[in-house]
Order: sequence, then structure tokens, then C-alpha cells
Amino acid sequence: MRKKIIAGNWKMNYTLTEADNFVNEIKDRINTDKVEVVLCPNNICLDRISDIIDNTNIKLGAQNVYFEDKGAYTGETSADMLLSVDAKYCIIGHSERRQYFAETDEMINKKAKKLLEKNIIPIICVGETLEQRESGVLFEHISSQIKNALEGISSDDAKNNIVIAYEPIWAIGTGKTATSMQAEEMCKYIRDEVRKLYDEKVADGIRIQYGGSVKPSNASEILNMEDIDGALVGGASLTNDFVAIVNYD
Ligand code: 13P
Repeated sequence: MRKKIIAGNWKMNYTLTEADNFVNEIKDRINTDKVEVVLCPNNICLDRISDIIDNTNIKLGAQNVYFEDKGAYTGETSADMLLSVDAKYCIIGHSERRQYFAETDEMINKKAKKLLEKNIIPIICVGETLEQRESGVLFEHISSQIKNALEGISSDDAKNNIVIAYEPIWAIGTGKTATSMQAEEMCKYIRDEVRKLYDEKVADGIRIQYGGSVKPSNASEILNMEDIDGALVGGASLTNDFVAIVNYD
């Protein structure tokens, strides 16, 4: 049985003080019995949030990593640095990084491998634009993102140490949520693709989240779909709404 995983991607929000106040306000109201909960603050806040959630079951995640170990890469953060603040997860390949920072499938694959080497679980994001959906290249596009991201990753890692987040770009920050049927259809398709790349066990074990305008009013319908194993939450993870989403029925 796959345990659901709900992660809050704060993106570029909250100063250290704001982050500290917010997490202190929500942490005791988050029920981690049936859901694994991950907070992904900006890098400045990682260490502080790590301390605040130390005695809880809430896990820490980062929003990005660089694939080299160390050196002259101004502005970048290594997997060892993430380990030093006890990060257990790291989002990679978010559509905003692909779009604004020109991240390629190849870079995302290298990041995934580096994280796995350091025992940090990558949350690999994939998703299509509205144009891709409407022009019918939707499945082809997602299939190639999945294949490229997982290239060279062992079945053991794919089964136990990878999370995939399906985030249709047209549903991110727009208030436009994919219907639960659209989200389920794609998460099921991704699982089928993983089955083709590996085998039944991996397809059965890998966790696939949906992301894009998840809020308290649609969380339970989305999270109760068979192939949707959790959510990657943006805007709503910055407010009390996150508590309501995580504690969904
Ligand atoms: P929103 O929940 O704000 O639509 O963002 C989704 C997202 O991009 C999470 O990574």
C-alpha cells in the first residue's frame, strides 16, 4: 500500500521570520498518521525549519539542487548541503525552473542521480502546457519527460526512492485545477509508462502526486483517486489551507 505524500512547495516566499512563525503555527495541527508531509521552504529557511520540525514527523524538502558536488558554481546548492540540514526530499524539474532557468531533461536526470547517491528522494516534476494538451501531443510529451528523467536509474531506486509529480502547467497558480478525472488519467498513464520502463513491482511502488491549484475544496476528491498518491501544493501551502489539505478525509 503506497502511503500518500503531500508536499508544500513554498516557491520564493517567506522570509526567515515569516517562515518561523508560519511553521510554528501549523506544525501541531498536521496529522502525519496516514499521510507523509513534506515542507519545501526556500534555502534560507531550510535550517531553521529543520529545527522547528525536528520533534515531529514532518519532513524537510528543498526546491532545487545542483548536480555537482562542490566548486565554482556561484549561487548553487549541493546535495551534501541539503543533507547537512537534514533534507529528505528535493523537488527537481519544476516547470518554473524549466521555463525561467532553462533546465533541460538531461540536467534533471543528473540531479535525480546525484540526489539518489546522497539518499535524498527526488520529487521529479513533469507536466504539459495548455497548447500541448490541446494539440494532442500530451501523452507523448509526458512520456518523454518521464523516460529522460529516469534514464539510468535502477529499479530499486525507482520503486522506493522516487516521487513523480504530475503538474499540468496550465493549472499552476491559475486557480484552474485539472478535474480529478484528468489528474487520475495522467497519473495512471505515468504509472503505465513506469511499468513499461521497469516492471509491475516498480509501477506498484512508485508514488505519483498531482499538483496544480490544489486547495481544501478539491483535495479530498483528488487525493482519493486510485493512482494519485499525494499532492504537490503551491499557493495553498503558505496558509492554513495546507493544514486542511493534509488532514483531508
Ligand atoms: P499552485 O498550487 O499554486 O497551483 O502551485 C502548484 C505547484 O507548482 C506546486 O509545485
